[in-house]
Amino acid sequence: MSHHTVTIENSGETFRCADDVNVLIAMEKAVCKGIPVGCRNGGCGACKVQILSGDYAVRKMNRAVVSAEDEAQGVVLACKVFPRGDVSLRALGRAWKPA
Ligand code: FES
Repeated sequence: MSHHTVTIENSGETFRCADDVNVLIAMEKAVCKGIPVGCRNGGCGACKVQILSGDYAVRKMNRAVVSAEDEAQGVVLACKVFPRGDVSLRALGRAWKPA
């Protein structure tokens, strides 16, 4: 197992994420708040982010909240994404407010 650094560009937070832990859970464990938390299971879209750089793997997401076109632009659900290298992302969820 390896660990990677995840950066949330719009909050400036960084945290470490193992490659078998989804980004949302790793963020919560690191007591970061830059990505809104909802169902934690790929259904609600609260944790939607756009990956700006870095490799990642993604599990099944609700197409009602992330379309295939979105996914092609790097838009994914943080609770369904697993880093495969250092990743930089931007939170898109509605609940996020600038500090
Ligand atoms: S928290 Fe609901 S989709 Fe990720």
